[in-house]
Parts: sequence; structure tokens; C-alpha cells
Amino acid sequence: MYCRNSLLLAFLALLATTLACTKDDDCSLNGICKTNTTTTICHCDPGWTGPDCGRLDLAPATRWTGYNHTNYTDPAYYGAYGNSSWGGRIIQDRDDPKLFHLLVDQFSHGCGLGGWRPTSFIVRAESRSGPQGPYKWVQNVTSSFRHNADVLWSPADRKYLLWAIGAAVEDPKTCKSIPGSQFPNNVSVSSASSIRGPWTPFHITINGTNPAPWPLYSPANKTSQIALAVEDFKIFTAPDWNGAFTRVNEDVAWNTTDYSPTWTEDPFIWRDKRGNWHALAHWMIDIVEKNGTKYPRVGAHMFSRRLESGWTFKVQEAFSSTVEFTDGAVETFNRRERSKIFFDEDMRPLYLVSGVQAMGVKSSFTLVQPIGKRWREYEKELGF
Ligand SMILES: *[C@@H]1O[C@H](CO)[C@@H](O)[C@H](O)[C@H]1NC(C)=O
Ligand SMILES: *[C@@H]1O[C@H](CO)[C@@H](O)[C@H](O)[C@H]1NC(C)=O
Ligand SMILES: *[C@@H]1O[C@H](CO)[C@@H](O)[C@H](O)[C@H]1NC(C)=O
Ligand SMILES: *[C@@H]1O[C@H](CO)[C@@H](O)[C@H](O)[C@H]1NC(C)=O
Ligand SMILES: *[C@@H]1O[C@H](CO)[C@@H](O)[C@H](O)[C@H]1NC(C)=O
Ligand SMILES: *[C@@H]1O[C@H](CO)[C@@H](O)[C@H](O)[C@H]1NC(C)=O
Ligand SMILES: *[C@@H]1O[C@H](CO)[C@@H](O)[C@H](O)[C@H]1NC(C)=O
Ligand SMILES: *[C@@H]1O[C@H](CO)[C@@H](O)[C@H](O)[C@H]1NC(C)=O
Ligand SMILES: *[C@@H]1O[C@H](CO)[C@@H](O)[C@H](O)[C@H]1NC(C)=O
Ligand SMILES: *[C@@H]1O[C@H](CO)[C@@H](O)[C@H](O)[C@H]1NC(C)=O
Repeated sequence: MYCRNSLLLAFLALLATTLACTKDDDCSLNGICKTNTTTTICHCDPGWTGPDCGRLDLAPATRWTGYNHTNYTDPAYYGAYGNSSWGGRIIQDRDDPKLFHLLVDQFSHGCGLGGWRPTSFIVRAESRSGPQGPYKWVQNVTSSFRHNADVLWSPADRKYLLWAIGAAVEDPKTCKSIPGSQFPNNVSVSSASSIRGPWTPFHITINGTNPAPWPLYSPANKTSQIALAVEDFKIFTAPDWNGAFTRVNEDVAWNTTDYSPTWTEDPFIWRDKRGNWHALAHWMIDIVEKNGTKYPRVGAHMFSRRLESGWTFKVQEAFSSTVEFTDGAVETFNRRERSKIFFDEDMRPLYLVSGVQAMGVKSSFTLVQPIGKRWREYEKELGF
């Protein structure tokens, strides 16, 4: 009797328990699936939110931060789009922690996104007012045509590695775009001991586009191996940045074909503090479902316990092109792409950096939007 009752009670207790997850994978590997007496739910890591921790917890952005020089004019410019840009990576200076660099894709001669190929080149901008910027141009890193810039510090090499697509071409004479067939989309890499350069000549690593590098180095394994993801989630590794890259993953389980509901581009990959892998990508679902409309669902998140296999793409919005500003404005951008996260030393996400284009304009700029709450402390600790 007693036994039957306790079984019954246990059964009733189980019924009453909310089971929102059974394992950390149900929390997008962005949190822990934990049970208290009554509830099993995802406890999200800082910066992530939602029942499955699949959504970036974006905080309001501040107007005129990031790299927005679309109002710049120069009589020699061919176009009217100022120093339009299209996303980049924030780097904290290694010697001066209050100095932040942004390596960013800019379009030359006042040209806009429409002429990205071949006007895009890479610049270095600096902010002394904190990681959100505003960043100001300080240096041309390359001439045209270089695009898809991504830069990271390789601890094993004690060098910065700069990845991009493109090739050195003659300075463009117009803002006119040229067909992809005229240009190799090949991914190239360059290195420098200082973020200020000088950079070694680019050399081609793989045939692909939208490079997303991440060093496999960890304090416990000081390997110089580098992982490199490109368009369509093809993942490569090389013994070091200078070495030969070989594909290490099988095709992912979702349909990467253009115009499928799981069509993405611009991957950005990272390994979290637990050793799990993540990616953000530009999700093109509204182009597919809304006849070419590019907003508002623009962000996808993918995750895996291993680099080589097991990637999950939960087909849902990880972030959108609608941005809240500290001035109270809410703006839905026509485009928001090339998103990259800046993390603190504990791999907590602090800022999302994206290329954005407002509605009805052809200029574009690089937006920096804080994530979660930790960025406030981070800025305060640095004295901002
Ligand atoms: C268990 O977690 C739920 C959801 O967070 C909460 O409402 C509840 O109070 C918690 N119960 C205990 C005993 O901590
Ligand atoms: C970017 O610059 C344009 C002027 O070219 C301005 O209208 C817009 O408000 C700025 N946006 C942000 C978010 O700073
Ligand atoms: C562009 O906007 C910034 C921020 O409002 C302002 O400081 C600057 O003077 C403007 N530049 C031009 C050329 O209008
Ligand atoms: C615009 O970019 C050019 C480099 O092409 C640079 O010389 C200039 O200082 C930049 N101006 C602003 C306001 O970003
Ligand atoms: C920077 O590079 C761009 C593109 O090649 C060029 O138009 C511009 O004049 C350069 N600016 C400086 C200051 O070197
Ligand atoms: C990449 O470069 C190789 C060799 O330089 C070339 O054969 C190939 O066509 C290029 N890729 C594309 C997409 O053009
Ligand atoms: C490079 O990739 C493109 C696009 O996938 C393909 O058409 C081309 O044949 C490839 N070239 C080489 C040299 O692998
Ligand atoms: C270090 O990491 C690399 C890359 O993931 C791996 O191939 C290698 O086996 C690791 N070495 C050790 C000792 O774990
Ligand atoms: C992938 O998506 C494309 C474009 O929508 C579609 O034509 C194709 O049938 C899909 N492939 C699979 C295996 O579902
Ligand atoms: C889809 O977009 C195209 C090009 O902008 C336009 O010509 C067409 O009428 C649109 N179709 C629908 C169903 O809205």
C-alpha cells in the first residue's frame, strides 16, 4: 500500500514537473539544463535568452557609435555614400586596454554596398571612448579589392591573422559593381605582429568566401591549429595559419542551397568556455518567404559539441534587424549582415558588430550593439 502510494506520488510529481529541457543541447549549448524540485529548465549563460537560450539578449545601441561615417563628404568621391562600411571585428589593444581597434570593410570613393566588388578595402579604425566607439579611421590596411575582413590574435603564433577575400586590383574608376566571375572569391590570409601592421602579403588558403577563422589553441593545448569555416558551413583546419587547409566536416544536416528556408551566409564561429562550438550566420529566410525582402529575420545560431560533426541549426531567429537605441528610437534596418561577437576573457559575449543598411538608403555602416548586462561592468572596469 505504502509502496503503491509513493509510486503514485512520484508519478504525480513527475507530471507536475515542468520539463523544458532534458539536456544542455536543448539549451542551444548556451546554458545548462537544470532541475530544482519542480522544474527542469534552461539556465542561460549571460548574453543569451529565451526558453532554449537560442536568442541573443541584445541591449540598446547608442546612435553615432560603431563606425558610421556615411555623412562624410569629399569632393573627389564618385558616390554620395560617404565612408560606407560593412562590418568588422573589434580588437582590444594588447598594450593599452583602453584602446579599441576595429578592422572594418569600407567602400572607397564614396561608393556604397552596391559597388562592394571591387571598391571594398580594409581599414583600421580606433576608439578611445570605449569598445562601442565611435571608431575613427586611422589607417588603410589594404587597397581594393579586399572584403570579408576578419582578424584574430593567434596565441600560438603571437601574431594577428587577417582573413579576407579578393585580390589587389587597379584603383576603381567608378562605383559600378563587377560580376563575381571576374574575381576569385578565394579566401586569403595575412599576418602581423602588431595590429598596426606591417602585414605580410596575402596568400590564398582555400577556394570559398566569407571566412570565419578560430584558433584551436587553449591554455591546456597550445596547438597552432586553426579552424576556418566558410560559406555553406564547410569547415577546414590547418596545422597552422600558413599551412594547408583540409576539410574536416561532412555536409551539415540542413539544406544549404540558395533559397531554401535554411539558406545562410556570413558564418562566424567560436568555441565557448565549455569547449562547445557555436556559429552565427546571416539567415536569409525573408528573402525566401517574402519575395526578396531582406528584413527583419536576419540572425541564425548554430551549435555543436564537435567542430567536425553534429551541428544543429534550430530554424528560428537568434536576432533581428530591429535595433533599440538608447535615445528611445527603434529602427528596423533593411539589412543586417556579417555579424560578429566581441567576447570578454571568459568568453562572455559583450557586443554584436554588424554591417547595417537603413531603409531606403544605399549607404551602410558598422553597428556595435551591446549584449546582455556584463558589458556595463566591462566598460566600468576599464574606466569608461
Ligand atoms: C524552480 O524554478 C522555477 C523556475 O525558475 C521557480 O519558479 C521555482 O520557484 C523554483 N523552485 C525552487 C524550489 O527553487
Ligand atoms: C548613421 O549616420 C546617418 C547619417 O549619414 C544618420 O542619419 C544615422 O542616424 C546614423 N545612425 C546611427 C545608428 O548612428
Ligand atoms: C556627421 O555626423 C556627426 C555626428 O552627428 C557630426 O559630428 C558631423 O559633423 C557630421 N559630418 C558631416 C560632414 O555632416
Ligand atoms: C574616410 O576614409 C578615408 C580613407 O579612404 C580617410 O582618409 C578619411 O579620414 C575617412 N574619413 C572619415 C570621416 O571616416
Ligand atoms: C585608402 O584607400 C582607399 C582605397 O584604396 C583610397 O581611395 C584612399 O585614398 C586611401 N587613403 C589614404 C589616406 O591612403
Ligand atoms: C580561386 O583561385 C583558384 C586558383 O587561384 C582559381 O582557379 C579559382 O577559380 C578561384 N576561385 C574562384 C571562385 O574564382
Ligand atoms: C572554386 O569554387 C567555385 C564555386 O564553388 C567552383 O566553381 C570552382 O570550380 C572552384 N575552383 C577550384 C579551383 O576549386
Ligand atoms: C590539441 O588540439 C588539436 C586540435 O584540436 C588536436 O588535434 C590535438 O590532438 C590536441 N592535442 C592534445 C594533446 O590534446
Ligand atoms: C534544398 O533546397 C532547394 C531550394 O529550396 C530545393 O530545391 C531542394 O529540393 C532542397 N533539397 C533537399 C534535399 O531538401
Ligand atoms: C516580387 O518582387 C519582384 C521584384 O521586385 C516584383 O517584380 C514582383 O512583382 C514581386 N512579386 C510579388 C508576388 O510580390
